[in-house]
Amino acid sequence: MSNKIVIGTQWGDEGKGKITDMLAETADVIVRFGGGNNAGHTVIVGDEKFELHLIPSGILYPEKVNVIGNGVVIDPEAMVEEMQGLRERGISLDKLFISETAHIIMPYHRLLDHLEEKRKGAGKIGTTGKGIGPAYTDKVARRGIRMIDLLDKDRFYRKLTDTLAYQNLVLERVYNSEPVQAEEIVEQYQPYIDELRLHVTNTSLLLEEAREERKKIFFEGAQGTLLDIDYGTYPFVTSSNPTAGGVCTGAGIGPTRIDDVIGVAKAYLTRVGEGPFPTELQDEIGELLREKGHEYGVTTGRPRRCGWFDVLILRHAFRVNGLTEIALTKLDVLSGLEEIKLCTGYRYRGELIKEFPAEVEHLSECEPVYETLPGWDEDITSVRDYNNLPENARRYIERIEELVKVPVKIIGTGPKREEAIRR
Ligand code: IMP
Repeated sequence: MSNKIVIGTQWGDEGKGKITDMLAETADVIVRFGGGNNAGHTVIVGDEKFELHLIPSGILYPEKVNVIGNGVVIDPEAMVEEMQGLRERGISLDKLFISETAHIIMPYHRLLDHLEEKRKGAGKIGTTGKGIGPAYTDKVARRGIRMIDLLDKDRFYRKLTDTLAYQNLVLERVYNSEPVQAEEIVEQYQPYIDELRLHVTNTSLLLEEAREERKKIFFEGAQGTLLDIDYGTYPFVTSSNPTAGGVCTGAGIGPTRIDDVIGVAKAYLTRVGEGPFPTELQDEIGELLREKGHEYGVTTGRPRRCGWFDVLILRHAFRVNGLTEIALTKLDVLSGLEEIKLCTGYRYRGELIKEFPAEVEHLSECEPVYETLPGWDEDITSVRDYNNLPENARRYIERIEELVKVPVKIIGTGPKREEAIRR
């Protein structure tokens, strides 16, 4: 058995798409277990670039089974749009399966997401505006609509009417907005439901059958550890558990079925949205990383904030995910820098701390303590053998391994599928 999880160890956008795509090659089934179309995975195959939001990266391999688990929240309109885009480019969707118990993003979830961000003003979260938070809120508040409900028009209408009895009060009385009508939404969603219906199944059962047939299952993380509702920089987080624990509840499998947890870490750090970021670089090096690394959100196009690598974050991710190895991405972006800094501690009110703090107000007072390493000039995109990396690049990697005590087994040296080193 070799079932693996790929997890983002930072604030998302670590380059998981490429790593998943590389590893998906050796898997039979690829599973998304959480988040929604707030995620954006870029995969480059040959000269073609694919931007995936909801559909697992394994879809680019025709023989693989792709699963969207119950932990994912699905916007039917966005989902069908993504499916059509792939179909037009000759990608088969025959082996795409969607959990019958996944919750659905409704038009009023997107509306509430915007209204609440606007209400918060300067204190906003900086969400992607896709309705993710309100959809998960309804799930937990036990008034959500699930995929299985959409398949029966009467049930969909009944459940929606119940939910709207609450949501329309919120829209009208809290936000001074217009109420929404159940009939309109039911009709608006029908063409999407017709498309999705064929793909809906009991995906927990599908995974169990795959396991019995000794198939390799690969769980594709979205977002990152610091966006986790429990382990992230709360409240500047997403509304799900993108950490390894989320795999079991979000895919309907038990922890005994997982063999490896691969943490994806970018060789520097980025963040979109609001919230503290101790190693953020608001200077020309930050600008250089953003331009060279094309650090603009796949989902929203927002420029990403850039900074130095933070070892405290990786250690935190190592612990909460039980990482067994690291994939270090975008090392090539650091080429040409005279020196590179690694944050190995924080100074908080005069005291040196070595663990990532739980409270964002504390984090915003933390000053990074750096270790400075020499950089390298060589272009490393064509390097495939670890020993052919410049000595200073190896030194940087080995120092991270030493500090976090996890092996770095994959190193990204460029955006293309083949631009990587496996150790
Ligand atoms: P939401 O998930 O749209 O509610 O946004 C909450 C926070 O998570 C915001 O800071 C978003 O920018 C961030 N976020 C959500 N999904 C991703 C992702 O896939 N990559 C990076 N940031 C994300």
